[in-house]
Amino acid sequence: MSTRGALRLGILISGRGSNMAAIARQCRAGHIAAEVAVVISERPEAAGLGTAREYGIPARSIAWPGAARREQFEAAAAAALADAGAELIVLAGFMRILSPSFVTTRAGAILNVHPSLLPQYPGLHTHRRVLEAGERVHGATVHFVTSELDGGPRVLQSRIAVRPGDTEETLSARVQATEHIIYPRVIGWRAEGRLEWREERPWLDGQPLEQPLLEDFDA
Ligand code: GAR
Repeated sequence: MSTRGALRLGILISGRGSNMAAIARQCRAGHIAAEVAVVISERPEAAGLGTAREYGIPARSIAWPGAARREQFEAAAAAALADAGAELIVLAGFMRILSPSFVTTRAGAILNVHPSLLPQYPGLHTHRRVLEAGERVHGATVHFVTSELDGGPRVLQSRIAVRPGDTEETLSARVQATEHIIYPRVIGWRAEGRLEWREERPWLDGQPLEQPLLEDFDA
């Protein structure tokens, strides 16, 4: 029997926070051995801050002083995360780029979800670019964060079919529905100790994870 306590999560958001809410619900339902210790946004108007408070989760807004001075945000965020006892940082629609020093000093302790099948379509407007390119499949990726933007080791990907008539909105909604499943699942693996960070790479169930796991969704 495990003596491991609930893994404390610090979630960074910039907007709606639907991934944050999905993770919080899975924690609350006891489906994953984690708890959301704090939610932080650089945007005081982020809807997800209100959602977090409705869930009884401490929610903080910390000003973003511009990319050139992002260390100010990072110092305040690091203090808030430490206050909350956060052990894993979860980027969930956090639309800022953290500095290499923030990220490298926390190697293996930051996860992100990105709305594409990385390494395809890093960056912004993924759904639009997928439609413009006429892709037949699309999806989302949960990965560890490194100083390479959207380039850290991938853990789990969801894949869906692009349907005739899809728009950015319909595609985004279907991809997000899969994010709400795969992101809590990866956090659960981390909380159970199945997913580890050793020798600068992810390990799953005691084996180095050479390739991400891929799950097809009929979404
Ligand atoms: C999610 O779809 C996530 O994949 C994307 O932002 C959305 C946030 O939604 N993240 C990125 O684009 C990061 N580059 P949410 O606020 O409802 O969770």
